[in-house]
Amino acid sequence: MDGKDDFFVIKAKEDGVNVIGLTRGTDTRFHHSEKLDKGEVMIAQFTEHTSAVKIRGKAVIQTSHGEMDTES
Ligand code: TRP
Repeated sequence: MDGKDDFFVIKAKEDGVNVIGLTRGTDTRFHHSEKLDKGEVMIAQFTEHTSAVKIRGKAVIQTSHGEMDTES
């Protein structure tokens, strides 16, 4: 069990929330950027390509570690 089966949920609380995927491996860089508008939900997993996610903007994030809010 490496955690890749876990989904996390991001719900945008304002327009223009950015969900940025960062690469797995020695080279950590942005590889994907997704823009969510208010009320939009993204359901995603960590994968062999994606080891970290950066969220910019006001959103609620649910993971197996709990639920948290970004500050506006
Ligand atoms: N093609 C990417 C991948 O398989 C898509 C992806 C998965 C992604 N999880 C993500 C993009 C989280 C942004 C954030 O890794």
